Amino acid sequence: MPVAQTKTKPKLVIYGCGGHGKVVADIALACGLAVEGFLDDRALEGKRVFDLPILGGSGWLEMRRSEVSVALGIGENRARCRIYKLCERLGMTPITLIHPTASVAASAQVGAGVVIMAQAVINPDARVGNGAIINSGAIVEHDCELGAFAHLSPNATLGGAVRIGALTHLGLAASVLPGKTVGEETVVGAGAVVTADVPPRVVVTGVPARVQRQLETT
Ligand SMILES: CC(C)(COP(=O)(O)OP(=O)(O)OC[C@H]1O[C@@H](n2cnc3c(N)ncnc32)[C@H](O)[C@@H]1OP(=O)(O)O)[C@@H](O)C(=O)NCCC(=O)NCCS
Repeated sequence: MPVAQTKTKPKLVIYGCGGHGKVVADIALACGLAVEGFLDDRALEGKRVFDLPILGGSGWLEMRRSEVSVALGIGENRARCRIYKLCERLGMTPITLIHPTASVAASAQVGAGVVIMAQAVINPDARVGNGAIINSGAIVEHDCELGAFAHLSPNATLGGAVRIGALTHLGLAASVLPGKTVGEETVVGAGAVVTADVPPRVVVTGVPARVQRQLETT
C-alpha cells in the first residue's frame, strides 16, 4: 500500500493531548513506536497523560525537530491543519499511523500525517489526503477520495467512489451513498445518510440528509 511516510526518527511526539491525542498515542504504542510524550500549546508542560509527559508546545518542537517525529493528535480539522503547516515550516512531515487491526488495501493511497484507527477499512484505489482521520471502525470503500484534513468519525461509512472535500467532518455512524460528493468544510451530523451531493460549508443532518444551516466562510 503506498503510504506517504517519512523516515521515522527514534522518538515520536504526539501533537495534542486531549482525548483524540490519547487514542493516537495508543496506536503509536500498538505499532511498537517509542512515544516520548505529548505537545500542546496550552502551557500544560509538566502534566502527564497516561504516564507520558506533556513536554511543551511549538517552541519545544522547534528546538527538538532534528531528534523527533511528530504524529497529529488533534481531532478538530482546522487546528490539525494549522499544526501540519507548522510542521512543514519546521521542515518536518508528520508521520502516518495505522492501527494494526485496520485493513488498508494494497492499492489505496494514504497521505502524510494521516491516522487510521482500530478496525477501520480502506478499500482498493481509495485516496486519503494529508492529515485526514479515519476513526475507529470507519469504512472508506473502493475508489473514494477523502480530502486533506477531513475526519470520518467512528463507524462512518463511505460507499464506493464517494468524494469528501478537504476539512469536512462526518459525525458518528454517518453514511454517504456511492458516487456522491460532499463539499469542503462541511459537517455531516451523526447518523445522517447522504443520498445526494452536499455543497461546501453547510451542516446536514437526518435521513435523508438535509441542509440544517450554512457555515460562515473564513
Ligand atoms: C449536527 C451537529 C453538528 C449539530 O450541532 P449543533 O449545530 O451544535 O446543533 P445543536 O446541538 O444545537 O442541535 C440543533 C438541532 O439539531 C438536532 N440535531 C443535532 N444533531 C443532530 C443529528 N446528528 N441528527 C439529527 N438531528 C440533530 C438537535 O436535536 C436540535 O434539534 P431542535 O432544534 O429540534 O432541538 C451535531 O449535533 C453532530 O451531529 N455532530 C457530530 C458529532 C460527532 O459525531 N462527533 C464525533 C467525534 S469523534
